[in-house]
Amino acid sequence: MSTATEARSNPLAQIDWDYVEFYVGNAKQAAHFYMSAFGFDQIAYAGPETGLRDRVSYLLEQNKLRFVITASLLPDDEIARHVALHGDGIKDIAILVADARAAFEKAVQGGARVVLEPTVLEDASGRLTKATIATYGDTVHSFIEREGYAGIFAPGFVEARKSIEHAAKPALQFIDHCVGNVGWGEMDAWGDFYGRVFGFSQLVSFDDKDISTEYTALRSKVMTDPRHRVKFPINEPAQGKKKSQIEEYLEFYRGAGVQHMAIRTDDIAATIRALKANGVEFLDTPDSYYDMLQERVGKIDEAIETLRDLRILVDRDDLGYMLQIFTKPLQDRPTVFFEIIQRKGSLSFGKGNFKALFVSIEREQEKRGTL
Ligand code: FE2
Repeated sequence: MSTATEARSNPLAQIDWDYVEFYVGNAKQAAHFYMSAFGFDQIAYAGPETGLRDRVSYLLEQNKLRFVITASLLPDDEIARHVALHGDGIKDIAILVADARAAFEKAVQGGARVVLEPTVLEDASGRLTKATIATYGDTVHSFIEREGYAGIFAPGFVEARKSIEHAAKPALQFIDHCVGNVGWGEMDAWGDFYGRVFGFSQLVSFDDKDISTEYTALRSKVMTDPRHRVKFPINEPAQGKKKSQIEEYLEFYRGAGVQHMAIRTDDIAATIRALKANGVEFLDTPDSYYDMLQERVGKIDEAIETLRDLRILVDRDDLGYMLQIFTKPLQDRPTVFFEIIQRKGSLSFGKGNFKALFVSIEREQEKRGTL
């Protein structure tokens, strides 16, 4: 099928990430954090100076990554209530589509709840179409159609460039996957949702035998678009002796929401060195993990000593291997965090690392008194 025909018959076949919008309590400070710690540049701004009365948004970019950091200027609007309930978190995982109206209609036919009907936003740079549907918790997906829009980001935003000098840039590239935590027994229903609403298929699933430690457990399945561009793993808690990290998340976030976003890099050692120099905190890994590593993953390009130094995890599948590491939570509540990932052939999500990782998270939970 030609791509044009495929786009007509399935408007969600050719999607990509567009932007991720965070709702936060103080957008100016949060934007500064993502710039100084993670190496983003500020590109555009919307707020009172540009005609908005109720909110401010900063557009940050780094390679193909685009974050919108938004805060309310009011005591009690939708954004302020979202932040009061959930703390700082990810509100909108926005998806780039060729036809926002067609994508929206297919999603609604599949049972998606409408948040914003297809809306044309217009300024001197052209027309951009946006439509929004609800997913788990208070999280949403906007469909963004940019053909016909030549502006810097979207109507309402003005160019406002600002950069922070870094000794070394983290060189983060694009989103690899974006993970949702949902409630007890809800994983399958949300997996089906991405099947019906987005036409996604299941890439892989993990049960509580794959993802458990002595104390805690969870289940996960990964939904993907046909091109494996946009991947949405969904986690749910599973029964264990103690409280799992998913339960802790659900308690602090007050419900389902985005747990982590995995960001790709081409050189994980250089990226992690740069991020650590900027003060980004990562989960630790037991030293013993590295004693067994060579045996477990075989020959890799990186020196084991470098990985041990930086606490980077490695996993192999039949296609290759991948390297990954997880930050500590990015805000006061133990909710959203980032994964930094480099793939060398592998499509894996790090199944072989789950145990080492969760033991490390349990240690952090212990300190918070939430294990
Ligand atoms: Fe991940």
